[in-house]
This record gives sequence, C-alpha cells and structure tokens, in this order.
Amino acid sequence: MKSAPRYACQQCGASYPKWAGRCEACGAWNSLAEEAAVAGLPRGLGRGKGKAVEFVPLRGPSAGPPRRLTGIAEFDRVCGGGLVAGSTILVGGDPGIGKSTLLLQVAAALAGPEGAAAYITGEEAIDQVRLRAERLGVADRPVGLASASSVRDIAAALDAAGAPGFVVVDSIQTMYLDTLDSAPGTVSQVRGAAQELIGLAKRRGFVLVLVGHVTKEGLIAGPRVLEHMVDTVLYFEGERGHQFRILRAVKNRYGATDEIGVFEMGDRGLAEVPNPSSLFLAERDAAAAPGSAVFAGIEGTRPLLVEVQALVAPSPLGTPRRAVVGWDATRLAMIIAVLDARCGLSVGANDIYLTVAGGLRIVEPAADLAVAAALVSALTETPVPADTVLFGEIGLSGRVRPVAQRDARLREAAKLGFAAAWLPPRTGKTGAEPLPTVAIGHLGELVARLAPRRRLRSGRVAVAE
Ligand code: TYD
Ligand code: MG
Repeated sequence: MKSAPRYACQQCGASYPKWAGRCEACGAWNSLAEEAAVAGLPRGLGRGKGKAVEFVPLRGPSAGPPRRLTGIAEFDRVCGGGLVAGSTILVGGDPGIGKSTLLLQVAAALAGPEGAAAYITGEEAIDQVRLRAERLGVADRPVGLASASSVRDIAAALDAAGAPGFVVVDSIQTMYLDTLDSAPGTVSQVRGAAQELIGLAKRRGFVLVLVGHVTKEGLIAGPRVLEHMVDTVLYFEGERGHQFRILRAVKNRYGATDEIGVFEMGDRGLAEVPNPSSLFLAERDAAAAPGSAVFAGIEGTRPLLVEVQALVAPSPLGTPRRAVVGWDATRLAMIIAVLDARCGLSVGANDIYLTVAGGLRIVEPAADLAVAAALVSALTETPVPADTVLFGEIGLSGRVRPVAQRDARLREAAKLGFAAAWLPPRTGKTGAEPLPTVAIGHLGELVARLAPRRRLRSGRVAVAE
C-alpha cells in the first residue's frame, strides 16, 4: 500500500499531513517539504510476551567511560574531557565556518598506533581534501580518506574487525540510505542515515562525528533534527571576517554543556587559543573611549573577558534603528527601557548599535551591567575607566543583582591587569577580594558614577536615585 505523502519541517522535523507556509512547531517559514512517510509501527504490542526488564539499585559499581584525548585541548574540553568510545558527536555550523578543517585536524591528531582514523567526505573530492591536508601539514598522518555517500557502502567498510576508532562523516546531509525514497538531505534521509551510522558506532565501539550544516532555507534538513539522537552536540560559530571560531557544547551526555573552545583560523588551519581573554581584548584601544566597557564573563567553566561596544546617535527616524551583534536584542531593549524609565535618561529615542568585540556571542544575563555602562558611556560621551571590568544582572526595577562565580571573574580580571571592578553588592561572604571593587546596587548609581552632573543630549540631567 502506498502511504499518503507527509510534509516534514526541514528545520525541526515535525511532520504534517498537509503543506503549510509555516511550521507550527518551530515557527520556521517555508520549511515544509514533501517526504514519503516512514512506514509506521504496527499498532500495540500484539501477542508475543517480552522478557521482563531487570531493575537494579541506584548505587552500584560504575566505571566512568574511558576517554581518548585528541591532544587539541580546546576540543577535548568541549567534549567533556576527551572522546567516549561508541558515542556520536554532531558538529553543526554555517557552511564555510571551518567544520571540515577542524575535524580533519582532529582526525589527524587522533590517528596513530592506538587506532586509525577515517574521514569520509560526501561533499568534496579526494583531491580537495588532500590539498587541505597538505595545507594543514597533516598529510602524513594515518587517516583513511574516502569519498562516499551511500550508507550501505560505508557500513560495509566500517562493520568489520579492525575498523577505525574515530570516524568523521562530512556531512550527514549528503549521506543516503538506498532503502528510502526521498532525496539525500531530507529529514527522513538524514535521520535514517544517522540512525544506521550511530548504531554501527555503538556496535563497533568507534567514535562517530557527524557534520551537519546549519541551513537557512528549508530545502535541506538542519542539524537540529538530529540533536536528540546523538550523545553530544557541538556548534562551531564565529563571525565571517573574524578569525576567531568558537566551538560550543549545547548538549553532552558525558560532560558539561556551555563549555566553549576558542580557535583562530589562520592560513595553516585552526590554532588553539588557550587564553582567549587576552585575545578578545587585544583589539582594544589602550585609551578609554566612550561607548566601550569590558565585561567579565564566564563561558562554561572558564572566565572570559570581552569588550562590549555601543554607539548611540540621534535618530532621524520615527522608529530608531537597533543593530546588535553578539548579544540578545530583546535583552538590549529591556536595558534601554530600564535606563529610560528608572534613571531618567532618554536612550531609547536614539539609534543604537551594540557589538561584542571579536565575534563572540554572549548569552549570560551577567553582561547587563557592562552593556548598560557602554550605552550610558556612549550617550554621555564619558569613557568608562579603561582599567575597570563590569558584571551584574539588571532587573526591571533597575536593581543590579548578584551573579554566580564572582571570584572567578575577579581573578581573571586581576590576572589581565585590570585594577577595579564595578559589580553588584556582595551578599554574605566577607574577606579580601582579588581586585578593588565598587558596588553598584542600582542602575542609577552607575549613571551617577559615569555622568555625575553632565547635561545629556536630550537636555535632561542624569540623576542618581
Ligand atoms: P571549511 O572547513 O571547508 O568549512 P566547512 O566545512 O564548515 O564548510 O573551511 C572553509 C574556510 O576556511 C574557507 O573559507 C577557507 C578557510 N581556511 C583558512 O582560512 N585556512 C585554512 O588553513 C583552511 C584549511 C581553510
Ligand atoms: Mg566542509
């Protein structure tokens, strides 16, 4: 019996009996594509009796999974301290960001007497990969290279004794199962191919890395449709035109998420950046400039200092322009509203541009205070002292709330030569701090500190509460 067509969202995988312009599940536009329905499971369990599952106590011997280190420390840390045999890692990212480069370097680093590595490409020709290997200086490493896209053929090579211990499949969107009707890159092919390969990795105990392109249009299934199937999900991100690349763990069954690894793309591939703070601040002008503030952040387990820059200019438009790079636009709108409503400024009437230097994307609300300082500083044309870092979360009342890992942030700032920190008042603990601190309990205090009696462009005077 031929099943009726189904329409699957190529972004999130939701499936519908009818076509629609917008996926109701994830809100993506124009992402539904027709796919042959995967044969459904038979109704219910039927007759046969199963073998009862066995329950064991929570406490019991359990060895942590053995891990293999690649020696690329930034990569190992993001993976939770090394690679676990039999597990699958999905590496997502925009086309051209450097996924193939990174994974070829990782494969080369892992290949050795302990086990071979394999790199299967469905996108590039053998020659292209060889040229890249040459450029990366890894052409002599024992990495098996293949150009293939049929999962049946790949399985035939890997489902044998002595299979490599580390396998990269670049990319999962080019792989296909010949048992499915739909074209490579559709949700059913991507899921089907991934399921086969993941099963194989478990059975044979090799580490499988699947590359998945993030897709803007709905024609090709994105990596999100695989996130629930794999053990670890890493996204490789960065701004085009910047050399920094951030590898971010968003899911990890074997380690912490929110961990990041920082790399720099050069002409011989990706180099690790072991001390990212100094790198992110390297582009900064030595003299204090209005509109710039240094945020003492935490990424995963690691403190990271970054510069936030703001430009505030009178707007000729009825609806002022907002452009944000590296931060959340909604959060920016909130801070602007709080500055206006609680501190008597009129930031909101201006065009506002905000960027996080170096191409980093910040997700922590702890950046609020630094963002507010950059905005006030730009508005009043008063620099924030160059030797000062800031952090703190801002509430709708304008109160500045404490954030986690205060000491780690301060220590990193002290290490990099900063002389002061503006931060929420300390609760509880007393004792020496790594750095002289200035407690800012309310946003009004920040404004008073930056612009004590200065007449603002709006003609109003900044007042501290
Ligand atoms: P690539 O790994 O092909 O990206 P992806 O697999 O994510 O699509 O990287 C492509 C970019 O990286 C390309 O624009 C060239 C650049 N690149 C370098 O700058 N230096 C290098 O040594 C290599 C190999 C690539
Ligand atoms: Mg590639």
